Amino acid sequence: MSVMYIRGGTPLEGELAVHGAKNSVLPILAACLLARGPVVLRNCPRLTDVTAALSILRRLGCRVEQAGNTITVDPAGASGCSISEEQMRSMRSSIIFLGPLLARMGEAHLTYPGGCELGPRPIDLHLAAIRAMGCEVSEDRGIHCQGRPRGGEVQLALPSVGATENAMLCAIGAQGPTTIVNAAREPEIGDLQSFLNSLGARVRGAGSSTITVEGGGKLSGGEYTVMGDRIVAATLLSAAVSAGGRVRLSGVDWRHLATVLSVFHQAGCRVESGPDHVELIRDRDAPLKGVPTIRTAPYPGFPTDAQAPVMAALAASQGCTLFVETMFDSRYRHVPELIRMGADITTEGRVALVRGVEELHGARVEASDLRGGGALAAAALGAEGTTVLSGLHHIDRGYEGLEEMLQRLGANVERREA
Ligand code: UD1
Repeated sequence: MSVMYIRGGTPLEGELAVHGAKNSVLPILAACLLARGPVVLRNCPRLTDVTAALSILRRLGCRVEQAGNTITVDPAGASGCSISEEQMRSMRSSIIFLGPLLARMGEAHLTYPGGCELGPRPIDLHLAAIRAMGCEVSEDRGIHCQGRPRGGEVQLALPSVGATENAMLCAIGAQGPTTIVNAAREPEIGDLQSFLNSLGARVRGAGSSTITVEGGGKLSGGEYTVMGDRIVAATLLSAAVSAGGRVRLSGVDWRHLATVLSVFHQAGCRVESGPDHVELIRDRDAPLKGVPTIRTAPYPGFPTDAQAPVMAALAASQGCTLFVETMFDSRYRHVPELIRMGADITTEGRVALVRGVEELHGARVEASDLRGGGALAAAALGAEGTTVLSGLHHIDRGYEGLEEMLQRLGANVERREA
């Protein structure tokens, strides 16, 4: 088992290009099934979730090559339509293959997906979307879907990111047009639309609540560069807020981080942003301030994935901050670990009250989910003494070489075998 040793108290200084977005590359990899020729994807992060997606593509008959941050998928020989239970359990995003499988094969056999334990994460909206496009779905010892999608109107009861993407991908292979109503508006959906259109699809409306897809077209192969990861950026900025210093990140669009940057500004940090960069300056001698209630919400609201890192950053501050997690039931699993580091946080259901303390201290803590892990690293960098962070397999699902990124910003971090 490996652990991270993190010595806090050194301000972060420097510049870093943020790696590609996990939540973009996963649906884009699934979308490669729809292409007729090879697809070359650049800026793909090396993450265990990406490895899991590549293993699913191989099982389905695609040829896949990974060289550094470039992945080539040749879907010409794809013929499979089932994904094993082990592969489905390896990550929540395995469900994103459902739409492309139906679009390409007219048949899909899966099981329920695994992923981070954030409370119940049903897939009813994904299945309702598939049904609305004319496919048959049966849930008898697994999920079995049949039929070529014919398109139509998909009304999502909630703006689910995954269900929106699944509906878009299924609709590409439909005989007629599809309209997705109450679609999620996350930037990664815009990236998926750009990718699909670069291969010849006709998808419009991503970023708004209504997305239209003209089905029937065959997609070509092509080349595409995946967008930067706004949640990795939010985590690195949280680390800089916690440790103090000056950090400039490139490769992300600051507008995708507007709600998070506004919190850091209100807490007393200086934030400067341009078209392709964001810079944060925090003077460690000036204490952070608590901020008005942070309520997670679908984009363009405050991202649930940034809740834990931002909470970690504000744990040592003057005043209180109230968090309301509206997206997932069980997303405060980092709180007991922050308390071990000296934080004063009380949770009640979906609400967490952070009473700022003067300083956190190092402790042995364990990541129990991906973003909670990023949060503990951010907290440790501002804490007095050394933190030993375990549960790194969660972190490796969504951060490519977190310790290397932090080292490049001057942090005292090391991964060792325990
Ligand atoms: C995606 C992101 C994840 C982020 C989340 C919310 C990816 C790979 N993951 O996850 O990082 O935390 O969006 O921004 O992009 N729901 C249902 N039924 C469904 C589907 C969802 O009730 O069929 C509910 C969920 O339980 C949750 C809410 O809808 O309460 C939002 O979930 P959703 O947007 O689907 O999240 P994911 O796509 O799984």
